[in-house]
Amino acid sequence: MRCVVANWKMNLLYADASNFCTEFAKHYTPAEDVRVAIAPPTVLLWTIHSQLRERGITTFAQNGHFEPKGAFTGELSMAQIRDAGCSGVILGHSERRQMFGETNEALVKKVHAAQERKLLPLLCIGETMAEREREQTFSVLQTQLSVLKGASRGPIWVAYEPVWAIGTGRTADTYQIGEAHAFIREELRVILGEQGGSVPILYGGSVAPQNFEQILSVPEVAGGLVGGASLDPMAFAQMVKIAQS
Ligand code: 13P
Repeated sequence: MRCVVANWKMNLLYADASNFCTEFAKHYTPAEDVRVAIAPPTVLLWTIHSQLRERGITTFAQNGHFEPKGAFTGELSMAQIRDAGCSGVILGHSERRQMFGETNEALVKKVHAAQERKLLPLLCIGETMAEREREQTFSVLQTQLSVLKGASRGPIWVAYEPVWAIGTGRTADTYQIGEAHAFIREELRVILGEQGGSVPILYGGSVAPQNFEQILSVPEVAGGLVGGASLDPMAFAQMVKIAQS
């Protein structure tokens, strides 16, 4: 199975999202072995869900809180995300780690809360350039993956997104991706046992129609988590097609 996930971050308005759905639907043919999800800003979740659900496209939230309800202004519970039609939630994106103080400790609780509400956690991990230069890539990935230690046996996806490749137009090369994904696979086996062998590991960081085929050819790459290029319905449809071929 392959997975292609659009992370729209804080982009697009209602009219853009609606137009995206119309255009994307024209160029998209579902295929059984490729799962496609869109993670729009929260206010656009319903737009995407209502317009693309029948085409088999699922929606993911970009974050969620671990508490079930209460006085947490500005937050969304996993139950609310599920209620809005989502089947998954992106957790631990590097932008949340770097700009909003997301910690591994909070992520342990978030993974647990998502699974309890039958939401698929898509855990993002990745090193900064400074960490890579200090040869800490593997230890950073290991620490970030350790949040899965208490996870239940429900479905989990992981995305390897080197921070230095996000929004920079600079993808990791196939050797770097292969090495990181092989390490992640081994760690997942240690943490999750047999299930760790089948958790899809996506790559993210300047993925585009021009480089996606090559990225997908790397062993242990099960798909892409796409930022900027996923805002263009034609480009996103093209990437889905590449994953299907
Ligand atoms: P870009 O594809 O814009 O580099 O973003 C990647 C990303 O952060 C997806 O979560």
